Amino acid sequence: MNEHILVEKRGAVTIVRMNRPDKKNAITRAMYAAMAKALAESDADADVRVRVLFGVPGAFSSGNDLADFMAIATGGEGGTEVYDFLLALASAGKPIVSGVDGIAVGIGTTINLHCDLTLATPRTEFRTPFVDLGLVPEAGSSLLAPAVLGRQNAFALLGLGEGFSAERAKAAGLIYDVVAEEELEAATLAAADAIARKPPEALRIARDLMLGSREALVARIKEEGAQFRARLKSDEAREAFMAFMNRKKG
Ligand code: COA
Repeated sequence: MNEHILVEKRGAVTIVRMNRPDKKNAITRAMYAAMAKALAESDADADVRVRVLFGVPGAFSSGNDLADFMAIATGGEGGTEVYDFLLALASAGKPIVSGVDGIAVGIGTTINLHCDLTLATPRTEFRTPFVDLGLVPEAGSSLLAPAVLGRQNAFALLGLGEGFSAERAKAAGLIYDVVAEEELEAATLAAADAIARKPPEALRIARDLMLGSREALVARIKEEGAQFRARLKSDEAREAFMAFMNRKKG
């Protein structure tokens, strides 16, 4: 287990919590690796029927750790952790439910495109400033978002980097429901329990039918990844990362 990823098995439910509150749950390579492992292990565990993803109060995730991006932008090598995690999401054999409160930036938004149900709170804002950072959409979002949200909403989210309130996200079909902050944990776990009580084989087949072939999704994740890695080394991206790092220096 990684210190910033807490994994807990409660009966048929595996709960994965991102827990790096001082950085608003910015996700490091080690955190991606720990989440990929938790997804793979719970997929393989016959006792587990559903996985739940949480952040901390006020921060589901502020996205990829920008210091990790900066390291690559300045000549460092990236690993396979992000890709491994995205593959685990895209090929998940069992449902994933997310409970989102507060900040949901970058992959903090796009993770939810892979979830079967997402609950969020009124203070949640979904935002993907990829283009503003000199980057491109990731996690298969360039394929999933137009399919889920329609082309124009997808462009507003992924192209313009507009923030989507929880209400707008629900109206657009990005999430399942909006619940009060104090009810998020219980409501998300109740949704997971409802899934866990279904006949698992029928549910698996139903879910597989709804998702269809994952080949195109995995291919898109790879294609986005190649573009993303190239963009990380661009002047546009380097300048955006520098601006973030220096923003508190007055
Ligand atoms: N990577 C690394 N560190 C991050 C981070 C990220 N993606 N997001 C936030 N942090 C860090 C901040 O640097 C700060 O650290 P510090 O206290 O050591 O200075 C801490 O988390 C708290 O963030 P702060 O900006 O002070 O909180 P806030 O509530 O004012 O703003 C955000 C929160 C998420 C809106 C803002 O931090 C932000 O825009 N982060 C970048 C998001 C992003 O672009 N992600 C990548 C998408 S591809």
